[in-house]
Amino acid sequence: MANEIKKILTGITTTGTPHIGNYLGAIKPSLNLAKGNNHGSYFFLADYHAIIKNQNPIEIKKSINDVALAWLSSGLDTKQSYFYRQSDISEITDLSWIFTCLTSKGLMNRAHAYKAAMSTRSSEDEKKITMGLFSYPILMATDILIFNSTHVPVGHDQTQHLEMTRDIAMRFNHTFGNIFNLPEAIIPTTENLVPGTDGRKMSKTYNNIIPLLCDEKTLKKTIAKIVTNSLEPGEPKDFNNCSVFKLFSFFSGMEEIEDFKEDYRNGISWGDAKKKLFLQMNEKLNFVRENYEKFRKEKDLVNDLLAEGAKKVRPQAAEMLDNVKKLIGIC
Ligand code: ADP
Ligand code: TRP
Repeated sequence: MANEIKKILTGITTTGTPHIGNYLGAIKPSLNLAKGNNHGSYFFLADYHAIIKNQNPIEIKKSINDVALAWLSSGLDTKQSYFYRQSDISEITDLSWIFTCLTSKGLMNRAHAYKAAMSTRSSEDEKKITMGLFSYPILMATDILIFNSTHVPVGHDQTQHLEMTRDIAMRFNHTFGNIFNLPEAIIPTTENLVPGTDGRKMSKTYNNIIPLLCDEKTLKKTIAKIVTNSLEPGEPKDFNNCSVFKLFSFFSGMEEIEDFKEDYRNGISWGDAKKKLFLQMNEKLNFVRENYEKFRKEKDLVNDLLAEGAKKVRPQAAEMLDNVKKLIGIC
């Protein structure tokens, strides 16, 4: 089926604290892609995916609120897009079961996340791998296909899930009738991977994040922790592969980047380089912080917006589920 219209959809799993990597790698590009698109943009909180990884109710609840506030504070306009929580759209889990019945176990055996879990565990421990983890890609395919989205901005690690989504859609289309688009992943280039404070990819798994929703003091303290080498002030420094420089460039224009390169050549001290990074990030993220401070005081805001979002989007999910049920003979 040709993708003549652009329906953008992405979800963030609600585990942990949203960080600068999520902002630059997922939230900002998705919001940019959605600008001026009037065929529909769908941004949701993947809370049913979250319980696969985390079964602590307090942490899950906090993360749902934090991820929602991260989207809203970064500029998501709930009037121009659909903003909802996966668990509020029960049609998703209905359709997910239908896809589960049509998807071969062999396809799921190949999923990277499942294979990684298997390789680190003995067969004794296999019982710790839940069916949720095993069929994770089916739920993700359902998130995407139920709204017939065409463009899915995601990180590199999600490429295989998008391939599986297309497999599932093709199999359904072939067997029952052509109703699903074959969605395309919109993947950032590797240069866009945001480094964490230890120089590895910023990730909550590595405990190296710079939180998106934090006050100035925390931002400054976290930047101070970025690992650098032991070169003294006055000694020329290499800006290539330097986390401080890389982070600075995500928030800067060409001229500012060139100036900073010159500072490195002139032997800027790490203290001054970090100060420059702090000032730049602080300024560019100020609007996020201001929004956050405003929104988090409005006690019911997140729940109200999510309830409204669910109400707006659910009829679309219900219509798709209905079509699918008719095609498979359950109606
Ligand atoms: P984490 O690695 O912290 O668990 P998630 O897997 O929840 O992050 O990330 C959600 C989305 O945020 C990913 O699909 C990816 O697009 C983006 N993202 C996460 N970390 C980074 C990073 N360091 N650089 C760029 N994008 C990232
Ligand atoms: N699996 C994605 C991640 O971990 C989150 C996600 C769930 C998602 N459903 C989705 C992303 C649908 C895009 C589309 O980052």
